[in-house]
Amino acid sequence: MPFKAPESYALDRPEDAEPLNPHASDDESDDVDALDPLRGSKRAYRDDASAPSPSFHRAPLRWLDGQRSHGGFWTRLCIPSRFCCILVLIFFATLLLLLTAGGLWVYKSGTPSTGQSEPWYPAPLGGTSKPWQVSYEKAAKLVDQMTLPEKINVTTGTGWSMDLCVGNTGRVDRLGFPSLCLQDGPLGLRFVANATAWPAGITVGATWNKQLMHARGKALGLEARLKGIHVLLGPSMGPLGRLPAGGRNWEGFGADPVLQGYGAAETIRGIQESGVIATAKHYVGNEQEHFRQSWEWGTPNAISSQIDDRTLHEIYAWPFAESVRAGVGSVMCSYNQVNNSYACQNSKLLNGVLKDELGFQGFVQSDWLAQRSGVAAALAGLDMSMPGDGLIWQDGKALWGAELTRAALNGSVPMERLNDMVLRVVAAWYQLGQDDEEKWPSLKDGGKPNFSSWTDDEIGELHPGASNSQEMGVVNHFVDVRQTKEGGDHDELAREIAREGIVLVKNEPKTLPLSRNGSSLNSGAQDGKVRVGIFGEDAFSNPKGPNACADRGCNEGTLAMGWGSGAAEFPYLVSPAEALHASFDRQTVEITDWKTNDVKNVDGTAAAQDFCLVFISSDSGEGFISWNGVKGDRNDLFPQKGGDDLVKHVAGTCGGRDERGSPLGRTIVVLHTVGPTILERWIGHIGVHAVLIAHLPGEESGNALADIIFGDYYPSGHLPYTIAQRPEDYGPTSAILTTPNAIVPQQNFSEGLYFDYRWFDAQKITPRYPFGYGLSYTEFEISDVHLANHAQLNISPFPSARPNSSIAPPAISTQIPDPASALWPENLKRLKKYVYPYLTSPPQPPRSPPQQPPPHPLSPAGGAQGGNPDLYTTIATLRATITNTSPSTSGPPPQAVLQLYIYPPPTPLFSPSNPNKPITMPVKVLRNFAKVDVKSSRTVKLDVTRKDLSFWDVDAGQWVLPEGEFGIGVGWSAGEIEGEGMVIKKLGVKWTE
Ligand code: BGC
Repeated sequence: MPFKAPESYALDRPEDAEPLNPHASDDESDDVDALDPLRGSKRAYRDDASAPSPSFHRAPLRWLDGQRSHGGFWTRLCIPSRFCCILVLIFFATLLLLLTAGGLWVYKSGTPSTGQSEPWYPAPLGGTSKPWQVSYEKAAKLVDQMTLPEKINVTTGTGWSMDLCVGNTGRVDRLGFPSLCLQDGPLGLRFVANATAWPAGITVGATWNKQLMHARGKALGLEARLKGIHVLLGPSMGPLGRLPAGGRNWEGFGADPVLQGYGAAETIRGIQESGVIATAKHYVGNEQEHFRQSWEWGTPNAISSQIDDRTLHEIYAWPFAESVRAGVGSVMCSYNQVNNSYACQNSKLLNGVLKDELGFQGFVQSDWLAQRSGVAAALAGLDMSMPGDGLIWQDGKALWGAELTRAALNGSVPMERLNDMVLRVVAAWYQLGQDDEEKWPSLKDGGKPNFSSWTDDEIGELHPGASNSQEMGVVNHFVDVRQTKEGGDHDELAREIAREGIVLVKNEPKTLPLSRNGSSLNSGAQDGKVRVGIFGEDAFSNPKGPNACADRGCNEGTLAMGWGSGAAEFPYLVSPAEALHASFDRQTVEITDWKTNDVKNVDGTAAAQDFCLVFISSDSGEGFISWNGVKGDRNDLFPQKGGDDLVKHVAGTCGGRDERGSPLGRTIVVLHTVGPTILERWIGHIGVHAVLIAHLPGEESGNALADIIFGDYYPSGHLPYTIAQRPEDYGPTSAILTTPNAIVPQQNFSEGLYFDYRWFDAQKITPRYPFGYGLSYTEFEISDVHLANHAQLNISPFPSARPNSSIAPPAISTQIPDPASALWPENLKRLKKYVYPYLTSPPQPPRSPPQQPPPHPLSPAGGAQGGNPDLYTTIATLRATITNTSPSTSGPPPQAVLQLYIYPPPTPLFSPSNPNKPITMPVKVLRNFAKVDVKSSRTVKLDVTRKDLSFWDVDAGQWVLPEGEFGIGVGWSAGEIEGEGMVIKKLGVKWTE
């Protein structure tokens, strides 16, 4: 049973690494700054080498003088002390030089001693938003009755693999508040049997279908609930896809904030409609796997993503804003640092942007071991520590747990902050109706799920991480959640999504769709049978099974999901070859399988076919797994395992060759991929007639592909990223940082807003296939485009004033409790390394509270979930008619994806708060889209909001709607130009005086 092998969880530091002392920085400290490990060293740098110590004096080095050569060879050999001394001296001199150089390097390129991220305190309180009011009221009643250890239990995980889910909070049995089960993930239920292996986020993004995004979320949520999962660790919207080779891009929805935003928000609405708390992750700037986490890559500190405020707002925080607007119950802060402050203790990001400006009402949980401090993280806005361990996996030295108890008792963490953490968690639980015993039968059992993450056996350990616990029980109930009365047939839904995520990028001359009996293909054979060859490992099942590699951490057999915590167990996987074998009419079609990527002798086999299908792939995943030299992030953007060579061989020889050497047979290429893949080595090949990019389709891979290949459905996927001609076309900052450039590796997001299509537009680079591109078997035309509100708009550059919340956060006692209430209860059987909230001895009496900085002013961009509600006021509505140019009466209708792009007024634009500072804008930005069935013709409406037209004004700390004439364009991809696919309407904006 390899898929739950313990080595798959070895996410962190090597075991022999020097342990860090988690308590060194937060124990009983009352100075926030002192708690930041990055700020530990405040000593001024002294260049000691320039100031020799007074005690230093030059000793006569007699053994260096000429006399030492007196005597013969043997004598010299007999005085090794001199020789050794020279060696030792040279050694130490070199060492000193190296250390000095290293020190200077660290000094020059290391972390600024003060950090760069603005402080934002105190943490805003939850419970200020109408849609959450009732839940907070209920939560307040419950939390008010909790003892200090009970409160701590709600905030802290019990430790890695101490209970059955990947994350488990402590329970409050006395009040019926369960241990919350937190489980991955964005694509399906990790470590869980009999659940659906859905298409990955990138495939869902490629559908451009908001209804399907929603439906998948709802189905995923239902499966989670039926397994007893309270908090689902998804969707993922960071990484966003800034770096095309980023290992985890595939977990999210595509390289654009708006596409990510819709994907995330619809998924969240779906998950939460099923009663499960969704998690918007990873907040924020976690764009690559290398150095994402302390020690995982050998560096003591995680990478810092240097993101300026405008880029943060307009790109990376955008999908999180949409998630909060959708009412998300939880946000996961990421491993990396942002502007040299860890994302899980970055007060500007958590307190400022997320809780104040975006009005987030749920709880912030740390990524697994992303928390790097105790008190500092609490004050900066972290609400839940996951999985509860400290700086090291399973060491029992939690940063919270008992340490948070101590910090609350000595006043380092004010009770108001602790209450707010607990309220946020409990309110989210009520908000999602998880107090309903009918829907949550596990409530009676303290919240236990009906599966175990740690074994596939029915009976297993209840606390596998605790070495002194042998407590066993039925842990896996194998509840099938794929077909239910409530949810219908999830396999069918998975197939539909996988199908709609397939992007047809080339089809010449109308090679696809194929007929099942081969009549659409030429047969050169005597027996009249059509010969079809299926080439490439990626078409076939992995003989060892689809779950053979732990967390899907290899690219073997057909690729249907990436690897890491974002992967799930396949209940089954229909390979493309299986589906093709089952679909072709075997009376008239003969199929030959070439199950590897080996090109030796492939030419002869290809030459014997009339038609060839070649399958290639490109895989990546989370950084704790490395496969074939791919350490999470891809090493390059080309197909893996010799895919390019295979295509060239097959396409060059399929069907034999005519007298000019051209192949007589046609070749279709199918690519399974985690993201942008360079196709240049063969895309123009005369033998390559059609190319399908099927992304990561999940369990129904083959069936979905067959649906498109045989024309049962029209292809309708569109690229959720740009495919370049050359890797360097993505820009100079698009490469993964693979060697540390400082003690805290620094990654500057210096391209700002300009990545993916925005970069290609700005640099006028022609991609191979633009963002949003995708063909159908029919063509569509746009006509009758109207823009409501296209008259001059007299409008304020700023949204209306931030509304004052009429709802006050619940007031519960902030009295520091009696320390005796936090001592170990008698007779409690302690599990080793399990995280408990109790203290051994009464802590020191409360200190005077630490001096608080003056409260940070509130952001004018805030005021409701997702930000100032006026940002979402519709400013214009575009209406367009889509016509199918070759309507057919049979079969399901084709689907068109209409995309709306904003062209900002021509520069120069200026900020109203700083008229000397010109504002640059991308050529265009995606702001809305719709996918519709178009049997013959169809009218579509797309709204444009104030935020869609605005830029983030750093000086004003506010969204600004620029003055001038906007273009509102609708077309089929970011590559269309006016008059050819893109229709642009004008929208004039004038500021009111
Ligand atoms: C990942 C998260 C995941 C967590 C729990 C971390 O390594 O970054 O996305 O939810 O593990 O498995």
